[in-house]
Amino acid sequence: MRKTAILVTACLVAACTAKSPMDTYIDNVMSRLTLEQKIGQLNLHSTPGFISAERVMEEDENAQLLNKGLLGGLYGSPNPTLLRQYQEIALNSGAGIPLIFGMDVIHGHQTVFPIPLGLSTSWNMELIERTARMAAKEASASGINWVYSPMVDICRDARWGRIAEGSGEDPYLGGRIAQAMVYGYQGHDNSTYATDEVMACVKHYALYGGAEAGRDYNSVFLSRQEALNGYMNPYKAAAKAGAGSYMSSFNEFEGIPATMNSWLMDELLRKSWGFDGFIVSDATAIAEEIAHGIGDLQEVSARSLQAGLDMDMNSDGFVGTLLQSVKEGRVKEADIDRACRRILEAKYKLGLFEDPYRYFSEERFKADVYTPENLAFAREVARECQVLLKNNGILPLRKGAKVAVVGPLAQDAAAMAGTWSQSSHNGESITLWQGISEVTPASYAEGSWLLRDAATEDGVRYGLIRMFAPGAPIPPVHSRPQNLLVAEAVAKALTADVVVACVGEIAGMNGEGASRTDITVPDTQVEMLKALKATGKPLVVVLVTGRPLALTNVEPLADAILNVWSPGSEGGHAVADVLFGDANPSAKLTTSFPRSVGQLPLYYNHKNTGRPHPDYEPYRKFTSCYTDELNGPLYPFGYGLSYTTFSYSEPVLSADEMPLAGTVTASVTVTNTGSRDGYEVVQLYIHDIYSTSTRPVKELKGFQKVFIPAGGSAKVDFVLSADDLSYYNHDLQWVCEPGDFEIMTGPNSRETQAAVLRVL
Ligand code: BGC
Repeated sequence: MRKTAILVTACLVAACTAKSPMDTYIDNVMSRLTLEQKIGQLNLHSTPGFISAERVMEEDENAQLLNKGLLGGLYGSPNPTLLRQYQEIALNSGAGIPLIFGMDVIHGHQTVFPIPLGLSTSWNMELIERTARMAAKEASASGINWVYSPMVDICRDARWGRIAEGSGEDPYLGGRIAQAMVYGYQGHDNSTYATDEVMACVKHYALYGGAEAGRDYNSVFLSRQEALNGYMNPYKAAAKAGAGSYMSSFNEFEGIPATMNSWLMDELLRKSWGFDGFIVSDATAIAEEIAHGIGDLQEVSARSLQAGLDMDMNSDGFVGTLLQSVKEGRVKEADIDRACRRILEAKYKLGLFEDPYRYFSEERFKADVYTPENLAFAREVARECQVLLKNNGILPLRKGAKVAVVGPLAQDAAAMAGTWSQSSHNGESITLWQGISEVTPASYAEGSWLLRDAATEDGVRYGLIRMFAPGAPIPPVHSRPQNLLVAEAVAKALTADVVVACVGEIAGMNGEGASRTDITVPDTQVEMLKALKATGKPLVVVLVTGRPLALTNVEPLADAILNVWSPGSEGGHAVADVLFGDANPSAKLTTSFPRSVGQLPLYYNHKNTGRPHPDYEPYRKFTSCYTDELNGPLYPFGYGLSYTTFSYSEPVLSADEMPLAGTVTASVTVTNTGSRDGYEVVQLYIHDIYSTSTRPVKELKGFQKVFIPAGGSAKVDFVLSADDLSYYNHDLQWVCEPGDFEIMTGPNSRETQAAVLRVL
């Protein structure tokens, strides 16, 4: 009897210590690498944009590094011929290890979907997962096996240009979207990848969206508690979904740059959330730690590695200094081995050791990339990502109505594609003018297009001039004075039944390095809208933007405002679908739209303060408010209109009390009170009335997008458990504190009705 027990124990120990085939394989690979070659695996470079595949061998620095086995991966090129050639060099070099190929595939690859902020307003997780799935299929056909997405940074400050790349201000919704994107790229099993799946790279870890004053790359000042409660959930959700890699961010946290922050990378991401992939720095982020004031390149490289970073993007810090640091005893070889192993594991899981060319497929490229089916899907997606902000009844437009199409963005394919779209088909993105003129008699005010350049000139502050004419003095960018351009738009308007004005942000006004202190529609465009309003013609504003804008001066001018973000390849078609009623808008905001820039940062899940002031009430001295502006946004989080209307019952709880280990169902009945079928995003918020730390006035904890036919009703159930009511307390413990909670349901974060639940 005793013998058997010993035997079983021995077997268990053997099973636990037995190496997986992957471990054994990587042991073998590593045993034949020199220390220098292992460091080489930690080195990531961009492909030069201009080099032709034929020239790679002779002149390229990357090829030279590869020949010495000093490069682990490359990123930035969608050109399969070039990538294949690099792969050949890698395999024939001393190390013989295949390269991993990354790229910023952010909202689609060749087929472009709405920008991520736009996608998030669909609140449709299945749809979002399918966009990532299609992007993976397209990217993986051209050699790319690693995408720098999802970008999951929560942002409460619309001045930050990169708010366009994320999913808005809410950590719960952001977590759901992060999970959907990871599944879309990688599939649901991250231990292995099919040839049309790619590895996700979650960015920017961490808290980049908390940049002070919305200024890009700026410092982040958040407590750990607020970081965990307000910002971290999407990063965590992506780890739980099995994301294969993370990208460290440019900002500092608690005085330590994120790229060398061991609390973020080691304690939280790896130890607490169980992430077992690799972490790459953002581009040149290691070298930027010198400017952060931490040390020279050798010092910051050593500290980044020791803090848990595995791969260096474009700083040449690892490849340039780690060997020396090992010699000096500054860095242990074991630290390098650990990072190298993580990168080799990723390559193993991607199947690159088995077939380094498995992601190159001419057949798939022809069959799967930028196909009519893909474009049809892009149109379907873009239809679901347009937020109707205002409608006095003018929309939907009558087909056959004569439409004057005006405004600087009506003919702008680049603005349709939006930030971080590197598709070779961007120039073909369907513009609003194209979309409308396919449906109804339309006339286009050519000149109003030039207001786009006028907006630029008007806004030297946007820094866009530099992008258009590098190093040159500011040129006169348009040939006719603004009043003539506006007069032309007005003349068109006078001949039409209705005016559709497409205004907002031109390419480059949002995205990386595009923070703004003035987040209104540019003055030149507002002047045009005023003149159009004066014609007395119905005026529909189609807003193209990558951030929430302060629309206080536009709102009174418009009969309807349809916010379409940058809607992607099929933008113009999809917007026309909504304008003419072939699609009923169902998107809802995932960021608060401020009244003025002075309200920023602005977010619905704020704290109450000791002197609370209701969001929409005027100034009252000695309460927390402004003398010159309401506290509340112009359009709140969760808000968006439909061509139909919905009414909400009060929420009903299945029980008034819930034991900590139990569940309760909150039900709400939503009725379609209008004359059209429609989708409605039903939202559930909670508020912890008394807790040991202060809590937000509202927190989203559930939503469902439901189809309700005209005149019909839907009962929507939300099952709540203690986890939904938990938060990180002052000691950073995830706790549900017994007591009373408000459970609120409604169509947006402003118009909610509450029931009270007691947790025992
Ligand atoms: C951005 C990242 C991007 C990287 C590579 C950086 O400047 O912050 O989001 O993935 O460049 O293109």
